[in-house]
Amino acid sequence: NNIPDDLFSAIALLKEELNAVILAHYYQEGDIQDIADYIGDSLGLSQQAANTSADVILFAGVHFMAETAKILNPDKLVLLPDLEAGCSLADSCPPDAFAQFKAQHPDHIVISYINCTAEIKALSDIICTSSNAVSIVNQIPPEQKIIFAPDKNLGRYVSEQTGRDLVLWDGSCIVHETFSEKRIVELKVQNPDAQILAHPECETPVLRHADYIGSTTALLKYSQGSECDKFIIATEPGIIHQMQKQAPHKVFIPAPSTSNCNCNECPYMRLNTLEKVYLALKNKTPEIIIPEPTRSKALKPIQRMLEMSK
Ligand code: 13P
Ligand code: SF4
Repeated sequence: NNIPDDLFSAIALLKEELNAVILAHYYQEGDIQDIADYIGDSLGLSQQAANTSADVILFAGVHFMAETAKILNPDKLVLLPDLEAGCSLADSCPPDAFAQFKAQHPDHIVISYINCTAEIKALSDIICTSSNAVSIVNQIPPEQKIIFAPDKNLGRYVSEQTGRDLVLWDGSCIVHETFSEKRIVELKVQNPDAQILAHPECETPVLRHADYIGSTTALLKYSQGSECDKFIIATEPGIIHQMQKQAPHKVFIPAPSTSNCNCNECPYMRLNTLEKVYLALKNKTPEIIIPEPTRSKALKPIQRMLEMSK
């Protein structure tokens, strides 16, 4: 496998040959965002996947995102540059244990955050993302009991916003739970003119200090629309590439983790590289495959989400 010097041109050529589209999440490295046809949050990416006319989808994100694209497009080739690009939240919810949990709450419907495997989606009634979770829960009749899985932090936030009691699965994201409340407050003291923007996957002590809470797309929009020109960003720092690109004069400071590591970078998202994107298109592998009936069972709650998000 010879790697060309100009990966940007080589990828553009392969895309044309294959009639491929590149969908990238904001947590991908800057170069990947720059070659993508569409960059978005989980909801935006699934809406794009539902509407694409491409024959091949190269998903620059993590496994559950590429799976969602495949569930929506069983006849298209869906490629993920690195199959090891998983997610701690998806891993925190094994299907067998979740099926037992569900059986213990027979009068509940299941709303699952999109950050879960196809098997968990197949056990769910409705899927949500961080941008529509509050609105989706608000659309459910108040007497209907709800299990919310797998992210307990997002679940707690949605429960507070909607005033609903949710039965929560005990999962969390290794990136968002690593932010240090103490160090964020210290940073704010040094930068009193900065606003704190946080993703709802963060823990409550961090969210308490946030000036604005939202999905990656919502955080990006807020940072562009706000009159403030300095922000502390409590989510994966890949998003800062777009924030900075769209507002070069503004200052974006990544929120610190509890230790001096790069723990706020998602190790799964970072497995994808421009070179792997090129190789995936060239070799038409690694491909996402989802067996039936899991795929068709998982499709229904995704379609419900898309309908409820119009
Ligand atoms: P959103 O892009 O929907 O905000 O989700 C963030 C995330 O953790 C994706 O893995
Ligand atoms: Fe999963 Fe967290 Fe990485 Fe998102 S940032 S893919 S939730 S581990």
